[in-house]
Amino acid sequence: MDPFYDPSRSYDDNDADGPFGAFAAPPTAPADGDRSAPRHRFLGLPVREPFGIPAGPLVNARFCAAAFAHGFDLCVYKTVRTRAHPAHPLPNIVPVHVDGDLTLEAARHPVRAGGAFAHPLSISNSFGVPSRDPDRWQPDMAAAVRAAGPGQVLIGAFQATRGAGDLVADHVRAARLVAETGAPVLELNLSCPNEGASDLLCFDAELVRRIVFAITDAVDLPLLIKIAHFAEDAALRRLVAMTGRLVAGYAAINTIPATLVDDAGRPALPGRTTSGVCGAGIRWAGLDMTRRLTRLRDELSLDYAIVGVGGVASADDYRAYRDAGADAVMSATGAMWNPGLAAEVRAGAAGSAGSAG
Ligand SMILES: Cc1cc2nc3c(=O)[nH]c(=O)nc-3n(C[C@H](O)[C@H](O)[C@H](O)COP(=O)(O)O)c2cc1C
Repeated sequence: MDPFYDPSRSYDDNDADGPFGAFAAPPTAPADGDRSAPRHRFLGLPVREPFGIPAGPLVNARFCAAAFAHGFDLCVYKTVRTRAHPAHPLPNIVPVHVDGDLTLEAARHPVRAGGAFAHPLSISNSFGVPSRDPDRWQPDMAAAVRAAGPGQVLIGAFQATRGAGDLVADHVRAARLVAETGAPVLELNLSCPNEGASDLLCFDAELVRRIVFAITDAVDLPLLIKIAHFAEDAALRRLVAMTGRLVAGYAAINTIPATLVDDAGRPALPGRTTSGVCGAGIRWAGLDMTRRLTRLRDELSLDYAIVGVGGVASADDYRAYRDAGADAVMSATGAMWNPGLAAEVRAGAAGSAGSAG
């Protein structure tokens, strides 16, 4: 199946001409013949099924509208910034050849990438979090908000730009700009490995607390924070203890960084030695974080939401995340190559509701 984001084209070309594949046309059958009231709630909002697409592949309102039409009920508009920021040059997406799980140990060694996309699919996404200027993305994000149907939610994702003045102030400005579009939920990306920063922001709990405090003080909307896989339990506990009463929830995970090489051992992404891996090989890590966040929520008597992300490519994967404690589940790689995934998840959920009843 052709992916709805075309890896062979530049980011700007996808933005101008996409979406592609099945997302280029309305669904042949409505993703949902069911017109009953949404059965679920996410952050207090009614949702039909708490499943969707995380930040990244939905690069503009057309992509978001297509995703909603195909039954993805939670759609995250691609992470934006307070200023225009260019994308890395092609290639941005390459297949990564992972045998089973991309464990933290396996990710310490070079991993082979390039060639053909094959299932079970792992890929690298290396974009550098491009953004248009707020004058361009704000009206477009507002259109994406309007594209959500009943029981569907558009989430506005953002991050700050390092080296662009006061980091906390840039975060607050970005959050305010997103809120102005009418997005009912915000998501702060603290976990991008493709920016050249040696340490991810999510690992600096004290700085995250200051940023989150400033945002939630300035903007009265539920705030999710997108975090990476934490190797250390103590570090995750510290982050949750410091932020768990401020944020509405945690979205985990982003990607696992690895050194990607081609068959000849050269960098698979010229000029970028490490890059984030997502897809089937990181499912274990998303599930692991979901379980640990669930446990911490109980232990610390908190009530944040958990958005499980990583390697979801089937209705069974969705169920595994929900069973692990996720309040919502999202798929980037899996959904890109299977635009019918939301319909499969809904059918699976309807089946299990039926058998439970
Ligand atoms: C094409 C693409 C672009 C992405 N861009 C972003 C981004 O801008 N911001 C972000 O927080 N995550 C980004 N991600 C990461 C995804 O949101 C997700 O966390 C990750 O891909 C793991 O999910 P998956 O295994 O279902 O792909 C991107 C992923 C892909 C595939």
